[in-house]
Amino acid sequence: MSNASATIPANEILTARAIVKDYPSVKVLKLIDLSVSDGDTLAVIGPNGAGKTTLFKVLSGEVFADSGTVSYNGADITRMPAWRRVRSGFGRSFQVASVFLDLTAAENVLIAVEAYLAQKTQGARFRLGCRPAPDVRDLVDETLEEVGLASKGFDQARFLSHGDKKRLELAMSLALRPRILLLDEPTAGMAPADRQASIELIAAVKARHGMTVVLTEHDMDVVFGLASRVVVLHHGELVAAGTPEEVRQNPLVREVYLGTEVNYA
Ligand SMILES: Nc1ncnc2c1ncn2[C@@H]1O[C@H](COP(=O)(O)OP(=O)(O)O)[C@@H](O)[C@H]1O
Ligand SMILES: [Mg+2]
Repeated sequence: MSNASATIPANEILTARAIVKDYPSVKVLKLIDLSVSDGDTLAVIGPNGAGKTTLFKVLSGEVFADSGTVSYNGADITRMPAWRRVRSGFGRSFQVASVFLDLTAAENVLIAVEAYLAQKTQGARFRLGCRPAPDVRDLVDETLEEVGLASKGFDQARFLSHGDKKRLELAMSLALRPRILLLDEPTAGMAPADRQASIELIAAVKARHGMTVVLTEHDMDVVFGLASRVVVLHHGELVAAGTPEEVRQNPLVREVYLGTEVNYA
C-alpha cells in the first residue's frame, strides 16, 4: 500500500492520483490527477461522455480504478468499498435520482436519518413502519424543510416532480451528515429556472453545514457562481484546472472545448 499521506497537504480532503479506468471498448479515464481541499466546491465539467460519472464512481468507490490511488483525509481508500466510504463521511447523489419510489418523501428521509443514527450509536435502530421517536421526526422534518420539501413529506416519491426527486435525494444525502458531498449532475434534466434554484440550494446547504462539495456538470455556466475550483474533463483527460475565472480564460478550454458553450459576455 502506498503511503499517500506523506505527499498530501493537510487541508486536502480528497486526492486522486494517476487514475486510469478502461471499459472493454473505451479508455474512459486517462491518468487523472485531482485534489479537493477541505471546504472547496469543486466542479468537474465536460461534455457528455467525457468520463465525469466514471470519475465520480471511482471517487465514491462504486467502481475501482484499474490503476492509480484515491486518498481521503490522507488515508489510502483506493480499494475501500462505497458503503465504507459513506460511513467515513461520503455523501453521494446520482445522475438519475435514486430514491425509494414506493415510499413517501418523509419515509425516504427517515431511512437516511435512521441509518445515520444507527451508525452514530453503532447499533440497529431501524424501524420504518413504527412511529419514529420525536427527535427522529424532528430530524426528518428539518431535513425536508432544508431542501424545500416540507409540504411534500406525505407525497409518495413516485409522484414527485423530477426536481423534487433530486431535492429528496439531496435530503437523504444530507441526513447522513456527510463531510464531503458528491453530486453527479445535480441539475440534469431540469428546466433553467429549476437549475438555478437547485444550484442556490446546494450553495445554501453547503454554507449551513460547512461541508466539501464535488459536483459534475456538463454546462459550465451553471457552476460558475457556485464552484471555488473547476476541472475540465475532455475525452477522459483533465485538460484544465483552476478557479472558475482561470478556467474561463484558459485558451485551450475556450477554443478547443468550450467555444460554443460559454457565453463570454
Ligand atoms: N459501465 C460501462 N461500460 C462500458 N462503457 C461505459 C460504462 N460506463 C461508461 N462508459 C463509457 O465511458 C465513457 C464515459 O462515460 P461517463 O463516465 O458516463 O461520462 P459522462 O458522465 O462525462 O457523460 C462513455 O463513452 C461511456 O459510454
Ligand atoms: Mg455523467
